[in-house]
Amino acid sequence: MNRRDMLRAGAGVSAWLATGATGLPVLANTPASAVLPTGAGGQSRLEMPALPWDVASLEPVISANTVGFHYGKHQRTYLDNLLKLVKGTPLADASLESIMRSTADKPESQAVFNNAAQVWNHTFYWHSLSPKGGGKPPKELTERLERDFGSLEVLKKEFLAAAGSQFGSGWVWLAFDRKAGRIIITKTGNAGSPLTQDQLVPLAALDVWEHAYYLDYQNRRLDYATALYDKLLNWQFVSDNLQKST
Ligand SMILES: [Fe+2]
Repeated sequence: MNRRDMLRAGAGVSAWLATGATGLPVLANTPASAVLPTGAGGQSRLEMPALPWDVASLEPVISANTVGFHYGKHQRTYLDNLLKLVKGTPLADASLESIMRSTADKPESQAVFNNAAQVWNHTFYWHSLSPKGGGKPPKELTERLERDFGSLEVLKKEFLAAAGSQFGSGWVWLAFDRKAGRIIITKTGNAGSPLTQDQLVPLAALDVWEHAYYLDYQNRRLDYATALYDKLLNWQFVSDNLQKST
């Protein structure tokens, strides 16, 4: 059985990572129960969250290779860095969200914030994608999006424009703006996250760091963003988050 056959047989990401097929860290002992994909992507313990789907299930839009490195190397490194930074401090027992909120905009805590937020942002990103995603949003959500953006075409155009115009590394988000009472598109640079902005409720995330797409799309960020939007965007996750925010 080759690697892909194993993945399709449902062996899952942990087993694949444990093979060390690409030199990735062994995560076989990562408890699946560490995943806490609450509506806001909540995670109450500083542990590596599991992916919500099999590592190869986003192919061909995102390869198992990209997911493996992105999750097993990049996100894992953010978590490892965070654990080192908070070890022996009161933050060691805090939730990811509370660490983010207590360190945001504090220059002396920037490294802690960056690593905590990158763990949270990535978990939220994984849940924003689904092998059954893309296509049209559910009816009720479609009506909200049409009200807030004029049409689904305008929404897509603005979302992709945001993805293309984010200078350097960062994220594009669908978020609910409590003050404005509407869904908006917003961008954050580096590890920035709408979770730390009181008036915003994150609904979906698009990672536009190069590591998210370079293995599959090289420098073609817009092709990556378009493919994800059309084929993987988890509208049910958006809808669930919106319902919890209002
Ligand atoms: Fe990333």
